[in-house]
Amino acid sequence: MELSTTQMQNQGETENRHWSRRAWIRAAGLGSLTGGVALASRGVAGGQAGPEGSGPDHLGNAMGPVGRVSTESFDPTAFLRAWNFSDLPADERARFYRETPRQDGTLLREYELFAVDREIEIAPGVFFPAWTYNGQVPGPTIRATAGDRIRINFVNQGAHPHTIHFHGWHTPEMDGSLPAHQVMPGDRFVYEFDADPFGVHLYHCHANPLKRHVHKGLYGAFIVDPPAETPRPPADELVMVLNAFDTNFDAENEVYAVNTAASFYMHEPVTVRVGERVRMYVVNLTEFDLINSFHLHAMFFDVLRTGTTLVPTETTDTIMLCQGERAILETTFRHPGDFMFHAHQSEFAELGWMGLFRAEERTHSD
Ligand code: CU
Ligand code: CU
Repeated sequence: MELSTTQMQNQGETENRHWSRRAWIRAAGLGSLTGGVALASRGVAGGQAGPEGSGPDHLGNAMGPVGRVSTESFDPTAFLRAWNFSDLPADERARFYRETPRQDGTLLREYELFAVDREIEIAPGVFFPAWTYNGQVPGPTIRATAGDRIRINFVNQGAHPHTIHFHGWHTPEMDGSLPAHQVMPGDRFVYEFDADPFGVHLYHCHANPLKRHVHKGLYGAFIVDPPAETPRPPADELVMVLNAFDTNFDAENEVYAVNTAASFYMHEPVTVRVGERVRMYVVNLTEFDLINSFHLHAMFFDVLRTGTTLVPTETTDTIMLCQGERAILETTFRHPGDFMFHAHQSEFAELGWMGLFRAEERTHSD
């Protein structure tokens, strides 16, 4: 973050022995990122293009990694629309999530979460030694309705002490933040609290050193829906966690993303429908960089800061989010086609925080 793009370029080109973040990225196969946008406008992928006429991948390659991450253990497309383990088959899901109706009409929602150390793929061929909740980064999205009781059975299967610190109202002993709250390797703890207030929140490990425990991957989205009497209007809902990875442990990020895999949605656009409301739950869990942002091309969106309101507070095409800050963004696509979204910090965008929406017209069979 201290060097200008030109300085970085020079560094990469003239001081190859200096292992700058961009030099590292190039070596790791993420491509000629600094020249990507200009080259893309000419339809040439910076010397990495496939054979003539090899198809629409040209554009994606020029603006991000070459190749694809494996989606076997974590699929960023499935993650967008998964909460409470809805991406698992029913029998498997029952091992991690249970709902029990309570007398007052609310639900008891019980979750099995565990911390486990695991290598994850953050860009094609680039692996990161992560600390994860349930083997994935971000961790599983937790979703409840305001007033529901949440019970998290947490088991620490990792090699370090961890906790789960939820944002929201709860008693101090459920906060997962003080030294006494640390769950030692092999131990377990039950977090229990009511879902309050409604909004888009987050959870993360709060063991020391905090920075390390967060940037290693121990975080996820926590969505609380408004009470049933005042629901949000129906929408196509998407979970987007802004994150980044310090791959060489120099306290700076080398890879940026939405939902972990750099530039993933450039290759696999987020498909949406023209004329249908889209609701994005955007949570910034980027460590080291003080701010991140979300910018959408050719459109505007309504902002519901922290999601704690039913009425938009702002209409814009770019919002800034501090570490831990989040917002609900709502919009309706007017036109079919591809719409870019990315951090408006160009550096983050070039290092992987960039994607596409693909808006499709409804057909009669829908
Ligand atoms: Cu931790
Ligand atoms: Cu926090």
